[in-house]
Amino acid sequence: MKILAVCLGNICRSPAAEAAIRRAAEVAGLSVEVDSAGTGSWHIGEPPHPESVAAGKRIGLEVEGRGRKFNSKDFERYDMIVAMDSSNMKELTALATNKEDLAKLRLFRTFDPETDETEVPDPWGGETEDYEEMMEIIVRAADGLVAQLAR
Ligand code: 4NP
Repeated sequence: MKILAVCLGNICRSPAAEAAIRRAAEVAGLSVEVDSAGTGSWHIGEPPHPESVAAGKRIGLEVEGRGRKFNSKDFERYDMIVAMDSSNMKELTALATNKEDLAKLRLFRTFDPETDETEVPDPWGGETEDYEEMMEIIVRAADGLVAQLAR
């Protein structure tokens, strides 16, 4: 199983989701390959945002990697592509070229069992507490996603 987490910049939300999904899969004993990407190109080659790294570190998660832009080959490489919000989803939907591509797209937060909210709010430019909240949402959604895969 190969999963790709996608946000806008690939420095705040999706690298955190990548780390959370990877750990949840390890804990569940599932073999899952995980990566992340952004729909924008501003932060290509950059490390994750320091606040995302710090929020991960507080719960023992290593948020790492380098920013890269989503490209249409990712539709072939991954079995599931999880979008952090509906704007990311819209971008990805526009890049899809067939119904197999479309069938791989999910809104990540729909796996969060505690809410009907479907967006992982963008913490970019926000405070430490915004990143904290982002991480809590992401961990719940990652656990929910992996629980579904395990079934
Ligand atoms: P992310 O957050 O999509 O969660 O990585 C953002 C990071 C950078 C920008 C926007 C969102 N930006 O406009 O540069």
